[in-house]
Amino acid sequence: MTSKIPIILDGDPGHDDAIAWMLAKASAWLEILACTSVSGNQSIEKTSYNARRVMTLLGIDAPFAMGREEPLHGEPIHAGNIHGETGLDGPALPDPTIEAEPINAVELMAKTIAASDKPVTIVATGPLTNVGALLILYPELKPKIAHISIMGGGLAHGNWTPAAEFNILVDPEAADVVFKSGLQLTMAGLDVTLKALVFPEDFERIRALGNPIAVVVAEWLDFFYTFHRSIGYAGAPVHDAVAVAALIKPEILTARDYYVQVETSGDFCRGATVADHYGFSQQPPNTHALVDIDREAFIDLLAEAAAWYGKESE
Ligand code: RIB
Ligand code: CA
Repeated sequence: MTSKIPIILDGDPGHDDAIAWMLAKASAWLEILACTSVSGNQSIEKTSYNARRVMTLLGIDAPFAMGREEPLHGEPIHAGNIHGETGLDGPALPDPTIEAEPINAVELMAKTIAASDKPVTIVATGPLTNVGALLILYPELKPKIAHISIMGGGLAHGNWTPAAEFNILVDPEAADVVFKSGLQLTMAGLDVTLKALVFPEDFERIRALGNPIAVVVAEWLDFFYTFHRSIGYAGAPVHDAVAVAALIKPEILTARDYYVQVETSGDFCRGATVADHYGFSQQPPNTHALVDIDREAFIDLLAEAAAWYGKESE
């Protein structure tokens, strides 16, 4: 890469969102223009408070704005059982020094994209409510959106229902708008994120780096690992960080291009991301779907990012 990629971070922190933001901030290749919150892992109030705390901890100097509690259609769904009552249980974090802008997340996204002298990449690691609303309300900005990199979906199965991954299931209508947008779309779905597993030797390596951010990252990973082990996972799937890794180190990932549709109805399959593997739809691919990862290289990426904060503070 010859110049920095301007990005907007949109998420529902959330342990893995926080780790994704840690990775993005530490990257020399990314310039964070704005951060926005979305309801998902917890209520919009909690994910917004967490976003502001994470931005404060990491020193992300960018405007922040809150999303809305409800998806475009239907009622909110939260994942309190995974990320805890606060949505980011575990290590103590600083009180936020960043206040929310007096505009909402979609308005901040639109303002940021319009003002950027380069097309902007959106990294969405929660439900796609804000991104879907942005595309509906500001279609004229599409030429200034270079790329959307999401954590969401799964070509083979879900993790909240048999068919649907959580982020897509929370707001299938918004996801449908994104997948139909015609914009460059990278999907870090469960096919790859369930291979992006972190184990104790990995987070102990990060903890041993010793700087305050590395210690917090290790605590987040430890919390995430403990929960996932309790429900039968071998390790902690750091889902959201893969959507950032796709931008800064695509060579550690394997992808397939598919035409993917989002199921917005159905008793059993609402929220499913359905890939056309054999061309039945006769449509060109709309999704760069990540399907495999070099796990060791991914861990190295997280460790290098965590180490950066130690050098940063020297
Ligand atoms: O299904 C995993 C996704 O749901 C991740 O983004 C996690 O943070 C939760 O939002
Ligand atoms: Ca998330």
